[in-house]
Amino acid sequence: SQIPVITIDGPTASGKGTVAQRVADQLGYHLLDSGALYRLTALQALRRGTDLADEHALAKLAEHLHISFTGEAIFLSHENVTDAIRAEEVGNTASKIAALPAVRQALFALQLGFRKAPGLVADGRDMGTVIFPHATLKVFLTASVEARAERRYKQLIAKGIPANMEGLLMDLKARDDRDTHRAIAPLVPAEGAHVLDTSTMTADEAVVQVLAWYAAIG
Ligand code: C5P
Repeated sequence: SQIPVITIDGPTASGKGTVAQRVADQLGYHLLDSGALYRLTALQALRRGTDLADEHALAKLAEHLHISFTGEAIFLSHENVTDAIRAEEVGNTASKIAALPAVRQALFALQLGFRKAPGLVADGRDMGTVIFPHATLKVFLTASVEARAERRYKQLIAKGIPANMEGLLMDLKARDDRDTHRAIAPLVPAEGAHVLDTSTMTADEAVVQVLAWYAAIG
């Protein structure tokens, strides 16, 4: 396909969601928040009490998700779940079920469908390695675990949610470990990806860099 795709992969709380959103806005492109798909599957599984070891049942659930995205909100069967899918429990469950091949397979075609004119910005873990291996531009956004924990801490406090720095560091490390060492679609920079360490950068500085790389491709 000739429709341009920019992939932005990276670990939890690297800022890739914010950066992807702003790059998409700047270019007038569509946005795929692939992590949200794993989170939606996790939320549905938690609500239905689906056995988290039942790969087949989870894949079926993923395949039959009724989801819709508007610019700001995410809906699951017409319910606005934008905040619900951001809960820590949902994120942790998402990271567990994301290790199951049948779940990833069930979400594969759904993700390809987001590639629509005039272009797509896709963020996640395997956008450049598995889903869009021929992307126009691939970016791997990273930051030290301390910088990421601090960002997460500030976000939670700003929302009035109590947070604990030690606990956040432990959670991030555990999730990094799961995402990096799983057998299928592990979190690694794609071949040809531009690596950007945002530990000491603002989101806007990262956006400027990504847009500069994209402009350089012409
Ligand atoms: O990015 P986010 O934190 O919303 O993703 C939630 C979880 O979904 C991640 O911890 C990861 O395990 C999984 N995920 C994935 N592949 C993607 C996006 C997210 O495995 N492309």
